[in-house]
Amino acid sequence: MKFAGSHILSIEQFERQDIERIFDVADMMIPYAHRERVTKVLDGAILGNMFFEPSTRTRVSFGCAFNLLGGEVRETTGFESSAIAKGESLYDTARVLSGYSDVIVMRHPASGSVAEFAAASRVPVLNGGDGANEHPSQALLDLYTIRKELQHQGRNDLDGLRIAMIGDLKYGRTVHSLCKLLCLFERVSVTLISPPELAMPQDLVERLREAGHSVFQSNVMEDSLAHIDICYSTRIQEERFADRAEADMYRGRYRLNQAIYTAYCEPNTVIMHPLPRDSRVEANELDNDLNDNPNLAIFRQADNGVLVRMALFAMVLDVVDQVDKNARDVNWYTERRF
Ligand code: CP
Repeated sequence: MKFAGSHILSIEQFERQDIERIFDVADMMIPYAHRERVTKVLDGAILGNMFFEPSTRTRVSFGCAFNLLGGEVRETTGFESSAIAKGESLYDTARVLSGYSDVIVMRHPASGSVAEFAAASRVPVLNGGDGANEHPSQALLDLYTIRKELQHQGRNDLDGLRIAMIGDLKYGRTVHSLCKLLCLFERVSVTLISPPELAMPQDLVERLREAGHSVFQSNVMEDSLAHIDICYSTRIQEERFADRAEADMYRGRYRLNQAIYTAYCEPNTVIMHPLPRDSRVEANELDNDLNDNPNLAIFRQADNGVLVRMALFAMVLDVVDQVDKNARDVNWYTERRF
């Protein structure tokens, strides 16, 4: 696809070669994300970072990614601090804010809302999550993480990947986008573990099968954990349920801890989660006793979000070839553990 000037709304926009290109550019961003080099390639550019749903990682890492490329960030969080609370339409909001920004990232609780906003925007819009629909930058950083974790184990091929997705697969937009992304690869084995009421939407299951992948569905976690490379846990998406009581019916149904990992997983199985993990006692889908497990990749996964989001900005704003030309070494204390 042509990245320059494009909206990034769905994984469906991409072909496999686009993914390889994004990952190559993300790799190029490592010295900047690791604070060894600084670049001013987006000096003067403004990101409108508009989050109408709670976010820690996506909002801050998109903002940091833009700052790390030398740009400035203007942010709106929550409907209450936006004129949408006064009845302004997404169309008007998009027309106005795209006059103030060079690129916009948006998160919104309604499926399709970011695409609706993008249709009225005069600058590229990146989907930071639209309801239960998609979270494309998360899927990209997830697959980038999977690739890196497997490379660390000496595997250089995403084809033949074996992954289990666990939890709320009905409302989890990260797993929806990840399934679409996996369809670009070959011979993937996908195990979908959820209560029947929170199963992966059937159209996505069919897509995986049409891509030639093996798909197994179960509502039991432990027996499905053997023979997988990646264990991708997810939170019950409480915000999509009618009320807390309904979410409580499913919360805590699947809990991975070190004892279960040791008993059921292969020794190198990588543990992932888009985060936030729900650490309340009644949920606790990934126990804190996994924190010292070297295969717990959740914080490396979150770190990789900056690289992938820097890559998306550089590609959409068409400055990939200028990043290094506008760079210098950093002159402050930078020692940190990655
Ligand atoms: N993974 C993710 O989207 O996290 P946030 O909700 O904190 O952005």
